[in-house]
Amino acid sequence: MPATVLVGAQWGDEGKGKVTDYLAEQADMVVRYQGGSNAGHTVKIGEEEFKLHLVPSGIFYPGKTCVIGNGVVVDPGVLVGELRALQARGVDTSGLRLSLQAHIILPYHKDLDAAQEEMRGEDRIGTTQRGIGPAYIDKVGRTGIRVADFLDPEEFRRRLEICLKEKNKLLGLYGRPGYTVEAILEEYAGYSAVLQPLAVDTPPLIDAALKEKKKVLFEGAQGTLLDVDQGTYPFVTSSHPVAGGACVGAGVGPTRINKVIGVAKAYTTRVGEGPFPTEDKGAVGTALRERGGEFGTTTGRPRRCGWLDVVILRHAVRVNGLTGLALTKLDVLSGLERVRICTAYEYGEQRISDFPPSLKVLAGCRPVYEELPGWQEDIGGARTLDDLPPACRAYVRRVEELVGVPVVLIAVGPRRDQTISIGSVW
Ligand code: GDP
Ligand code: IMO
Ligand code: MG
Repeated sequence: MPATVLVGAQWGDEGKGKVTDYLAEQADMVVRYQGGSNAGHTVKIGEEEFKLHLVPSGIFYPGKTCVIGNGVVVDPGVLVGELRALQARGVDTSGLRLSLQAHIILPYHKDLDAAQEEMRGEDRIGTTQRGIGPAYIDKVGRTGIRVADFLDPEEFRRRLEICLKEKNKLLGLYGRPGYTVEAILEEYAGYSAVLQPLAVDTPPLIDAALKEKKKVLFEGAQGTLLDVDQGTYPFVTSSHPVAGGACVGAGVGPTRINKVIGVAKAYTTRVGEGPFPTEDKGAVGTALRERGGEFGTTTGRPRRCGWLDVVILRHAVRVNGLTGLALTKLDVLSGLERVRICTAYEYGEQRISDFPPSLKVLAGCRPVYEELPGWQEDIGGARTLDDLPPACRAYVRRVEELVGVPVVLIAVGPRRDQTISIGSVW
């Protein structure tokens, strides 16, 4: 029963979509376990590029079972739009399943997300404004609406009547108009018709696959440093991207998970607010952004960029129990005279090598760098480790040493075939 969790090891956008698509060829099932349409996962097959928000990145193998797990917050309009767009491009989406226990995002979640960000002003989180925080608040606050309720017209109406009493008052406090039950029912009725056939009880489906010794890949969204417990709180998302989140968000026990692969860029990026020790606001950051095309997949915002930070990667190893690393965008570092790796932080007179839990401390940390020779060659055509220039191989080996887990996969370009497979992920 090989089950592998693929988790973002940084602040998201590590290339999880690309790596999931690559590994999905070997998998029997791909499961998204948290987040919502705040995620933007890019898959490039040949010259065709797809941007996925809710549909798991295994969907490009016809008929592959792809599950949107119970831990995901689903915006029905976004999901229906995504399905139609994929189908219009000839993608077979027949393998998609949606958990009856997943919570749905309602229009007021998006309004509240925007209103709260506006109210925070300079202290904003920089959310994607997809309603993620308010939807998870409702889930934990026991006022959410699940797919099962949404697909039952009577229950949906009843739940909406209860919710809107409070939500309309709340929207009023922010100076925003409220909603009528009828208006939401009308908009959502069309989505319900499309999603009804996909909705099933997903934990037994995943369990059955594992019992049949099928390979299940759990696709994380966001990243470890955006985890609500293990990340840079409060500049985080409202779910658990870490590997443990896969158990809760898919409905499988921890004893079923065999491997955990962390996806990390060969440098670091972050979108949204919050501390980022290796952020480079000068020439290096600009060069990385331009070479790496570092603009948000969901919001188009420019991503903040800097050198690789192994303090956060060691934190990712610990909190996820990583067994391997998938190192992506290595090609972006080609052409640099020297490359740097942050191995520790300086905080006042102190040297810190463990990721600090205090945001105030993290914000005051200065990176300590180790410098390595760069390489000039374009490595986009490399398919084995031996195809990489010696300085590039030395960089990978050093990352492995510093992080303490083996690099099992390297991505040297956005396309599916631009991948070097080194070790097994199962
Ligand atoms: P995700 O959210 O983790 O799936 O990552 P995104 O899709 O948001 O961002 C990663 C971006 O980098 C996308 O535009 C990918 O097409 C691209 N990408 C992924 N791997 C590589 C790589 O190895 N090299 C380059 N140059 N681009 C890559
Ligand atoms: P993928 O799956 C990068 C960030 C937002 C913001 C914070 C909270 O593509 O890696 P939210 O809308 O979740 O309440 O925003 O989290 N964020 C991401 N950053 N990649 C993502 O997803 C992200 N999803 C949310 O920018 O800082
Ligand atoms: Mg992304």
